[in-house]
Amino acid sequence: MAAAAASFAALPCLLLLLLLPSFGAASNVTYDHRSLIIDGRRRLVISTSIHYPRSVPEMWPKLVAEAKDGGADCIETYVFWNGHEIAPGQYYFEDRFDLVRFVKVVRDAGLLLILRIGPFVAAEWNFGGVPVWLHYVPGTVFRTNNEPFKSHMQSFTTYIVNMMKKEQLFASQGGNIILAQIENEYGGYLEQYYGTAGKAYAMWAASMALAQNTGVPWIMCQQPDAPDPVINTCNSFYCDNFQPNSPTKPKFWTENWPGWFQTFGESNPHRPPEDVAFAVARFFEKGGSVQNYYVYHGGTNFGRTTGGPFITTSYDYDAPIDEYGLRRFPKWAHLKELHKSIKLCEHTLLCGNTSFVSLGPKQEADIYTDQSGGCVAFLANIDSDKDKVVTFRNRQYDLPAWSVSILPDCKNVVFNTAKVQSQTSMVVMVPESLQAAKPDRWSIFRETTGIWGKNNFIRNGFVDHINTTKDTTDYLWYTTSFSVDGSYSSKGTQAVLNIDSKGHGVHAFLNNELIGSAYGNGSQSSFTVGLPINLRTGKNDLALLSMTVGLQNAGPSYEWIGAGFTNVSISGLKNGVVDLSSNNWTYKIGLEGEYYSLFKPDQRSNKRWVPQSEPPKNQPLTWYKVSKC
Ligand code: GAL
Repeated sequence: MAAAAASFAALPCLLLLLLLPSFGAASNVTYDHRSLIIDGRRRLVISTSIHYPRSVPEMWPKLVAEAKDGGADCIETYVFWNGHEIAPGQYYFEDRFDLVRFVKVVRDAGLLLILRIGPFVAAEWNFGGVPVWLHYVPGTVFRTNNEPFKSHMQSFTTYIVNMMKKEQLFASQGGNIILAQIENEYGGYLEQYYGTAGKAYAMWAASMALAQNTGVPWIMCQQPDAPDPVINTCNSFYCDNFQPNSPTKPKFWTENWPGWFQTFGESNPHRPPEDVAFAVARFFEKGGSVQNYYVYHGGTNFGRTTGGPFITTSYDYDAPIDEYGLRRFPKWAHLKELHKSIKLCEHTLLCGNTSFVSLGPKQEADIYTDQSGGCVAFLANIDSDKDKVVTFRNRQYDLPAWSVSILPDCKNVVFNTAKVQSQTSMVVMVPESLQAAKPDRWSIFRETTGIWGKNNFIRNGFVDHINTTKDTTDYLWYTTSFSVDGSYSSKGTQAVLNIDSKGHGVHAFLNNELIGSAYGNGSQSSFTVGLPINLRTGKNDLALLSMTVGLQNAGPSYEWIGAGFTNVSISGLKNGVVDLSSNNWTYKIGLEGEYYSLFKPDQRSNKRWVPQSEPPKNQPLTWYKVSKC
């Protein structure tokens, strides 16, 4: 066993008082290499992400209360630019987007808040949170050293900062916002994506953040090289080895992913509570002091807010609070016990000297001792397969594989991350059969196949889907006609409609019949499909419904990826392949049902809804409505 070098937290540490923060009086929020220091007190922060537009305001107080009861002392949220600035200079802060109301709900619950202003957020949110209209402001390139982008980005972030200041919400004003973030990445990623234009933008974004004069520190996630004094933070499943890269910066974890988001067609991701607890315990064991669960409550991607392609409406994330606001057992409770145990260690952890003792090839002890005689130990078994009995200070301890034991007095284990002792019962949602209950309450609306109403335009060849819809809808009809004579078929071969698309999906109709569907599984959701078809002699009508399923939310130059068809042809004909790509194509943006807002509650009595005794099956392009009483 070998004792390693000690480090000493220089700040004089009075005993930490575990009092609720009382807001109203201005707080001084600073930091050093070990932790945040709020009004002269070191703080170990358990933070939990709850994104306000992913639930309804009526749910917010309960969600925040559940986080607090689960041991959180802070809530973290992104700010979602495209939900707020719906057109240049036109702002929206109502209902689910009432940011001030959300921050005040958190404040009134006595919790701190970390505000990640974005405005680029990724977050599985449509277009990464950046308004689609900005892509069409001439000359704009997102997230580079580009004047239109920088000027709109600066206007929005300054607007948000001023709004918070006006409401006295920064801790420096007596509010609960203790940390803020602008942009989602600096340095590394942006440089890798955009070269010097990315790096220059990152440096500019950092200097812009610092100039905002909020009186609270600025943080940055997932980069080791944010410019001083912005604090680098970690973003990952495990952050024990994260180095803040500066002797003056503390070790913070902005995104600890307790689960993952779901995409259509994939299984529902799951991260066991034991592993989440292990990661958190290791982080604090190795000197971390602010840890945030991304996300603690994921909620729902309402409307067309989901990013993509193909990210589901549910943003449940296997989070400690489920999509509906209910505690997820045993995850919520296991983490609550973990938080309690870590909080018992807070003073000694943040104010003590640390030493390391090896207890075996994959077994470690990190020990903290303070001047008042406090002693805290974390005993870790990082062997993912084998349990181990270790000896620490002449006592024996059983350490299950991949686990950390927490000893707030260096003797007694109060918590082991692999031993789930809390409630293990789970909430099961029971589906209710609407069909059986009230068959007479169904009504439907059938879309026209192809152009409904007046077409938008006719063009030779293809247009880009997103440039055409500007994301006002997911749907764009591409229709054309062509003729074949009676001798079109080549003996023994089947005619095939070939479609190449940049994504995301298509429903193909020939002469009003659905002949097949396909969706993107290639790079950036492109796809190629061949659909067997039967042509009729003479004129044939082809109607292709191109669909987007959430716009890209991250990655280099993601706003330029585009969608829609690039090639359409028919093969298997006697005269070879007929390329329809440069035909005359007639376009229609959106669906008729969308045009009439049939999905809105105030349209439930719209006469276009046709009552049915039973919901029809296998009918494409059909809107269904059922009412329950
Ligand atoms: C992170 C990103 C978040 C979110 C997360 C995955 O890298 O910062 O916004 O996208 O990945 O859920």
